[in-house]
Amino acid sequence: MTIPPADPARAFRDTFGHFPTGVTVVTTTGPDGPAGMTTNAVTSLSLDPLLLLVCFEARSRTLEAVRSSRRFAVNVLRAGDEELAAVFASKRVAAQKFASVTHREAHGVPVLDRALAWIACELRELRPGGDHEIGIGEVLETGGGENGEPLVFHRGRYTTVAG
Ligand SMILES: Cc1cc2nc3c(=O)[nH]c(=O)nc-3n(C[C@H](O)[C@H](O)[C@H](O)COP(=O)(O)O)c2cc1C
Repeated sequence: MTIPPADPARAFRDTFGHFPTGVTVVTTTGPDGPAGMTTNAVTSLSLDPLLLLVCFEARSRTLEAVRSSRRFAVNVLRAGDEELAAVFASKRVAAQKFASVTHREAHGVPVLDRALAWIACELRELRPGGDHEIGIGEVLETGGGENGEPLVFHRGRYTTVAG
């Protein structure tokens, strides 16, 4: 017999934490200007057409901005950019988040100059997924991708590929 955990959500997070991910900042341009949040629930989805998906917590302000702009960029963070990840994971107002990093625009959405790689997308669909919304984006342009170490999230901590 398996005894159910006292805190299933905690157990789920702890178990899933063994699956390491990269760390991205998903950005968009909302009605009040640039918006963005640290995001690791990102995956490629399809090659024909080119699609990716991002899981947005239903209450995230970035989701609201994406709903209105219908576009977003996925910015892959570099090793050493833990502080940037913390800023974009916070509830600071978006202008304060963007004060800590320079960016340019591509296809109407902010691309962080420090990003190791980036993908600009047009929002194709938002589908419900429990307390999240699954955003499916069609790729408009990809950039960066030169050599460089990505930031990694593993078991609730930032690390690197080398560990
Ligand atoms: C490593 C890490 C990964 C995260 N991944 C996600 C994610 O995939 N989806 C999400 O909605 N929030 C994720 N978050 C939480 C958001 O960054 C956080 O809720 C943020 O405050 C949202 O900002 P906003 O309300 O300005 O959009 C993550 C946070 C961290 C530190």
